[in-house]
Amino acid sequence: MDKTLAISYQEFDTKDKMVHADCELLQRAVEAAQGAYAPYSGFRVGAALRLADGRVVCGSNQENAAYPSGLCAERTAVFAASAQYPEMRDYEAIAIVGVDASGRCCEASPCGACRQVLQEYEQRQGHPMRVICYLQDGGVRVFGSVKDLLPFSFQF
Ligand code: THU
Repeated sequence: MDKTLAISYQEFDTKDKMVHADCELLQRAVEAAQGAYAPYSGFRVGAALRLADGRVVCGSNQENAAYPSGLCAERTAVFAASAQYPEMRDYEAIAIVGVDASGRCCEASPCGACRQVLQEYEQRQGHPMRVICYLQDGGVRVFGSVKDLLPFSFQF
């Protein structure tokens, strides 16, 4: 039997059209990208995770000469939040932005490994975590749930 899966998401042509809290979260991600250690790719990524209590935990990509030892911004943020605030493993939204070698903000859609990690926290908390991605042209794409980015994810 053939089946089809459709996902829905929102797009805004500018981040200012989002609700204020999301706009602010994206701005925190832009600032977080300054903390990236990306001497190998020259591509900085910032992520800002808003916890259910309103706290924001940020992350940026951290590279290493032994390439796979580095970590993406999204996992840096969510692992930091989980480690620092284990009593508040309830994540409302994560905003992600790339900053290229010339300092311009650009699109950074979460990689497969980050999707897998984010979806596990989402599954555990029992309600959706929204994913807010900056787009190349200054727009923003918003997914209502990590599930939309990783259907049929691995479960154990
Ligand atoms: N990167 C992230 O931080 N997040 C992603 O979702 C994709 C890629 C980083 C990893 C590496 O430091 C750089 O971007 C180039 O791949």
